[in-house]
Amino acid sequence: MSDSVKFDFSGKTVIVTGAERGIGLELARGFAKCGANIVIAGIMDEEFPNAEKLVKEYGVDCTCIHTDVSDEASVKRLAALVKEKYGRIDILVNNAGINKLAPAEAMPLEVWQRILSVNLTGTFLMCREVGSIMLEQGGGNIVNIASMSGLIVNPLPQQQCAYNSSKAGVIMLTKCLANEWAKRGIRVNAIAPGFTRTPLTRKRLDTPDDPAVKKWIGGTPMGRVAEPEEMVGLALYFASDLSSFTTGTYLPVDGGYTCL
Ligand SMILES: NC(=O)c1ccc[n+]([C@@H]2O[C@H](COP(=O)([O-])OP(=O)(O)OC[C@H]3O[C@@H](n4cnc5c(N)ncnc54)[C@H](O)[C@@H]3O)[C@@H](O)[C@H]2O)c1
Repeated sequence: MSDSVKFDFSGKTVIVTGAERGIGLELARGFAKCGANIVIAGIMDEEFPNAEKLVKEYGVDCTCIHTDVSDEASVKRLAALVKEKYGRIDILVNNAGINKLAPAEAMPLEVWQRILSVNLTGTFLMCREVGSIMLEQGGGNIVNIASMSGLIVNPLPQQQCAYNSSKAGVIMLTKCLANEWAKRGIRVNAIAPGFTRTPLTRKRLDTPDDPAVKKWIGGTPMGRVAEPEEMVGLALYFASDLSSFTTGTYLPVDGGYTCL
């Protein structure tokens, strides 16, 4: 993101789920660059040292806490630990997510349930536990990472009905919570990324003859995929007072993919 745009989150506490790598790590670094203390909540413990080092380069505090967002006890523990350490939680970014492709007629129930339980139930549990703390402290801000796949069906078709349904659910959950908490100081908004180069997609993107990759890039008016740091600007905007009258909404960051 351009250095000429300045946001100030000095001294704020920001939890980013799934920030060990990919989009989440860039979001954590984006908030750290603006002065926020960062809590990385995820399951890839082996990635914690690298993520912590990259966040701390901005001179802020960073805590990594092993958290499975689909597990109620794990989420409760995270919320309690962060409250105990920092006293308050200003911003929550729900970024953790998984995907697995399978034709709908052959989608194993366990796969469907796992995707829904991480992407949708995990977002709900995080919002419920951290949202309760935000309500007690008089306010806060939540940014959910949905997907353009919560709005449209990918071409080919890409066989990911569980993922798409989970992300459509994240967008509706965003609207529901925004509405319930609108008068109580919590704004809730969502980002709907398009195809983005991360460990989740890198293998396919690095295979130029992959028909899906050709379709992704060919179908994107800007003719390329996103870099993870291109999600940062909107997250900072949603979390800042610049968007003080914006809640319950979502914005695709997709190079124009969903406008066709
Ligand atoms: N990469 C894309 O093209 C793209 C497009 C649209 C939306 N998204 C969304 O952006 C988010 C980040 O995706 P990414 O591409 O960086 O993926 P990634 O696989 O690189 O990162 C996902 C992160 O989520 C964490 N995670 C997975 N399961 C978890 C669990 N149960 N509890 C806690 N953390 C868990 C992982 O540890 C990892 O750090 C996801 O929600 C994804 O659906 C990605």
